[in-house]
Amino acid sequence: MENIESEKTIDDVVITPWEVSSKNGIDYNILLEKFGTEAIDGNMIERFERLTKMPAHTWLRRGLFFSHRDLNKLLDAYENGEDIYLYTGRGPSSESMHLGHMIPFDFTKYLQDAFQAILVIQMSDDEKYYFRKPNQPDNLQHYNDLAYKNARDIIARGFNIEKTYMFANSEEIRNNREYFNIFLEMANQFRPKDVESVFGIGSNFSINQLLWPLMQSAPAFSTMFKTIFQDENVFCLVPCAIDQDVYFRFCRDFSNENKSKGYKKPAVILSEFFPALQGANSKMSSSVDAPTTIFLDDTPEQIKTKINKYALSGGGETAKLHRENGADLTVDVAFHSLLYFHDNDEELAIIAHDYKKGIMMTSEIKRIAIEKITAFVQQHQHNKSLVTDDIVNEFFRKRPLNREKTSRPDITLKTPEEYSRLGVNFDRYFGMENI
Ligand code: TRP
Repeated sequence: MENIESEKTIDDVVITPWEVSSKNGIDYNILLEKFGTEAIDGNMIERFERLTKMPAHTWLRRGLFFSHRDLNKLLDAYENGEDIYLYTGRGPSSESMHLGHMIPFDFTKYLQDAFQAILVIQMSDDEKYYFRKPNQPDNLQHYNDLAYKNARDIIARGFNIEKTYMFANSEEIRNNREYFNIFLEMANQFRPKDVESVFGIGSNFSINQLLWPLMQSAPAFSTMFKTIFQDENVFCLVPCAIDQDVYFRFCRDFSNENKSKGYKKPAVILSEFFPALQGANSKMSSSVDAPTTIFLDDTPEQIKTKINKYALSGGGETAKLHRENGADLTVDVAFHSLLYFHDNDEELAIIAHDYKKGIMMTSEIKRIAIEKITAFVQQHQHNKSLVTDDIVNEFFRKRPLNREKTSRPDITLKTPEEYSRLGVNFDRYFGMENI
């Protein structure tokens, strides 16, 4: 049989904010090469823990947030006592958010706690209006309403109300003079052909679509947020999925070209895609094949049915074959989802072993995945029920934020040997892959 792995090449992978496709599944090592971003290894994770005095997030430890630009520089700044801030966003294209949408937000929440940092969240209602599909409503108000609805799900992830500012972009662009100033500076520098070469959108796109990259890029410069930072230039870190990286490459080019104006090059920390139920190497999506997507408002029954029915299994065709040959962990979606939702490495190692050996059946690993995901979704629904209109309004109110930090006691660090096995070197199959 042909070895599919070795056949993947850099040209088979297309990842842009508008398209994610890859002939044979997504190989994230190829992405590192293609994007020219850096891998997050154990040394970086050690630095994170030492400087923030918090244990690294499971998704960092397990290499799911696997890549970065200039994270070392950002950590240098933090170590020197400089302030940093976080910026991320959400394009409100539909009312229901799904599990995959929460990954960058939960990780951002961890970063906010770890760095005690200010966070700004762009709700890009205008983006979703400009890029709407022919079957989607063509009025901006619709997307603006969705921005406020989705904000409840985002707030429910636990962001610090004193340190977080959320904005609907269609409003911010009208109200914020500094935003407009940065936007004009960028528009002054870039030509349609630059946008075309970086984003793959060109002269057949609307002018609004062509301008969008500037609008998503500008909030990575702190001078946009005068109420929060005055005129201070604060280093920005953007946590996001890897398809959004291009925007910040764009920002970084812009700061290179405008050194004298002091725009600080933002750092990024990038995640893999959370897989859809139909394959461990896919991306969960709300528009394509919705029955294979787990939404945050799903009932326990729906979650159970979707996982049992659609989660691609690496188990044997029959119980007999499974007992003889065991499971293929690399394609098994239930197993993959446990990398996100089952924090305990020792327990996950046992699951990997028993499933790989055919001792544990597919129904059993799916039961564990259903249990973990249902608990997550139910907790989310409870948290969301506590988000009142007043709370939403407060997050959206332009106001000075609390920039104070309190000191934490040191934590016990791992050994260099333990760190060397983390991040991109983390063995997701716990020694069971090639047995
Ligand atoms: N463009 C993103 C989307 O379609 C939303 C978004 C806006 C975003 N600003 C961002 C994502 C900043 C990451 C970082 O979902």
